[in-house]
Amino acid sequence: MENARILVIDDEKNILESVRMVLSYEDYAVETAASGIDGLELFKQIRPEIVLLDVKMPGFDGLQVLKTIKQTDPLTEVIMISGHSGIEEAMEASRIGAFDFLEKPISREKLLLSVRNAAEKYSLTRENATLRTFQERKHDLVGDSPVMQKLKQVIDKVARTQSTVLITGESGTGKELIARRLHYCSQRSKRPFVQVNCAAIPEELIESELFGHEKGSFTGAFEKKPGKFEIAHRGTIFLDEIGDLSLKAQAKVLRVLEEGEIQRVGSAEIQKVDVRVIAATNQDLKQKIRDGEFREDLFFRLNVVPVYSPALRERVEDIPRLVDHFVGFFAEENNYRKRRFDPAVIEAFSQYPWKGNVRELRNLVERLLIMTDSRTITIRDLPEEMRDVPEKAAFSFARFSEWKEFKEFTEKRFLEEKLEQFDHNISRTAREIGIPRSNLYKKMEQFAIIVPNETKAAGEPPSGDALHPRGEESPDSAGKDGS
Ligand SMILES: Nc1ncnc2c1ncn2[C@@H]1O[C@H](COP(=O)(O)OP(=O)(O)OP(=O)(O)O)[C@@H](O)[C@H]1O
Ligand SMILES: [Mg+2]
Repeated sequence: MENARILVIDDEKNILESVRMVLSYEDYAVETAASGIDGLELFKQIRPEIVLLDVKMPGFDGLQVLKTIKQTDPLTEVIMISGHSGIEEAMEASRIGAFDFLEKPISREKLLLSVRNAAEKYSLTRENATLRTFQERKHDLVGDSPVMQKLKQVIDKVARTQSTVLITGESGTGKELIARRLHYCSQRSKRPFVQVNCAAIPEELIESELFGHEKGSFTGAFEKKPGKFEIAHRGTIFLDEIGDLSLKAQAKVLRVLEEGEIQRVGSAEIQKVDVRVIAATNQDLKQKIRDGEFREDLFFRLNVVPVYSPALRERVEDIPRLVDHFVGFFAEENNYRKRRFDPAVIEAFSQYPWKGNVRELRNLVERLLIMTDSRTITIRDLPEEMRDVPEKAAFSFARFSEWKEFKEFTEKRFLEEKLEQFDHNISRTAREIGIPRSNLYKKMEQFAIIVPNETKAAGEPPSGDALHPRGEESPDSAGKDGS
């Protein structure tokens, strides 16, 4: 987080001054207060992200101030400053929720490091808080591959501005989720987010849809109706599939962007609206401009901040988390039991081109959950065109840098495959692959391999063979949903 606001509270003037100098030099916005009372007063006025707080002060002491700050705004990160490390105070402070401790004399390096960490934590927690409060989980933008991290940073930065955003990217990559996140992370989050699918509305109705109409302005206009721009006033309008907007409607949208004005169909009156515009398309707008189907001036107006939504094959690292996310989502939505995807399946997913991107992945996961009965979804459950892939390209040696890594990966994969093959019967698997059963247990524990029927397997070798033929539940493995 750049330019975090920092409040320093300490009764020693020279500390205030030196801390202020160090932090201002790094472009933080620093305010200081020489007592707990003044500090709290200032805290309420400026609402800093970070507070540096002396433990020992006359009057209102550090711990009391800390308590009040945390009650007022639990998200604020507080770094305590203390004379000699008082262990009790330190423990009490961290119990109340202090982020870090700095000892006097304060070293410049430690100060900067602590502040930087606090700023990072602050923006993370705030982000989560915003997402949890305002967004249902189904609108979460899942993925932390480098491209997705970058994308999220861009979104969070742009969200704070009023700029028009044009989101491009292939179908199914999550453009709508990006638009929602832009809205819900912005100051407009409490105002409406109004989505218009420009492709789904017949050309002759799009104008009235966007700008509203007066009663009787055209056949079928029985009632006066407000347009989406009016409804989105002070919020965000999301013009999805903007490439499908007719040239006539494009001209009107351009006018809103330029003048902030709308006019209902059949009305002479002009209204001012304050709306942030986010547009998205999976079409090549530059080509459409060349073909005379899209206005160049509108393109430039929309494309103030271009945001590119990467294809799934550009971020295969996200696949495991996406699969988890969808499994959890569908399990909750339909009361399914949660099921495991075999690592080989995930591997196959990573090799597949995903022309339909995340949407295709999501649909496949849903279908597999409906169609398969076994607890683990394996390669055999996949559609034919996917099944061939992993045999040929199960892994490339290039992904391993060390012998140990390679050995463990292949051992684990081998055991998982064999356990699957022999219905998770551990004794039989051990026999078939020619190792003692105890060794197999040890390996399973080492690699955290859990087989559905033998939840006790990792950890405590049972005396007998805890055999449960497929389809029968062992009492301790039956979860609330019967898995
Ligand atoms: N990063 C992601 N995390 C979780 N779900 C995602 C992600 N990306 C896409 N999805 C899901 O995939 C589906 C398609 O996403 P979305 O509708 O946002 O795609 P789109 O880019 O707008 O596609 P189109 O161009 O076809 O309109 C949705 O169900 C969405 O929830
Ligand atoms: Mg879309």
